[in-house]
Amino acid sequence: MQILAISGSLRSGASNTELLTAAMLLAPASVEISMYGGLNTLPHFNPDLDNPDGSTLPEIVADLRSRIGGAEGILISCPEYAHGIPGSFKNLLDWLVGSTEFPGKPVALLNTSSMSVHAPEQLIEVLTTMNARIVPQACFIVPLLGRRLDAQAIAADPELSAVLRVAITSFVHAISSMQSDTAPLSVNVP
Ligand SMILES: Cc1cc2nc3c(=O)[nH]c(=O)nc-3n(C[C@H](O)[C@H](O)[C@H](O)COP(=O)(O)O)c2cc1C
Repeated sequence: MQILAISGSLRSGASNTELLTAAMLLAPASVEISMYGGLNTLPHFNPDLDNPDGSTLPEIVADLRSRIGGAEGILISCPEYAHGIPGSFKNLLDWLVGSTEFPGKPVALLNTSSMSVHAPEQLIEVLTTMNARIVPQACFIVPLLGRRLDAQAIAADPELSAVLRVAITSFVHAISSMQSDTAPLSVNVP
């Protein structure tokens, strides 16, 4: 199963990026989590560039949409800035609003700070409006604020890794059951 991880933080050594990297380390062999690395280079969203025929779509945005389309689920970990979603991450979401690839996509949300409550609420509102299928049983707070742990340290921590493993397993199960719910009915032809 292919899962795309997207960190909402551009900061080097960001706890949100380290957490997602730890999830990559802990994923079972049947699950490949890849990290989206283009957040820093996406242009500002402009509807003029988002024509229905795709002729004006920047190549990097087409690449983002293709990665979204190729993933069976999206794992997001995003910080809170000034009681809101960081602008660069909201910009990424805005590029996906008019896409065919994003609607209906299963999404799990991780949060590295129990202090941040507004951004997670806003993310749920925005993602629901974009027709994401948020999987609540795969959404977790993994408290990393002020701990300066890198991905290896997170993956080696018994409590943190246990939460991450539950998040991954719950997400994979939910995606699998969504896929079997939407699979075409087989008909036995004698
Ligand atoms: C500009 C800025 C604004 C912030 N505003 C908030 C906030 O409103 N509420 C909050 O809980 N944390 C806030 N924080 C703290 C970050 O959410 C927190 O440090 C987070 O762990 C950063 O994630 P990162 O380590 O992945 O970069 C803010 C941080 C910055 C840099």
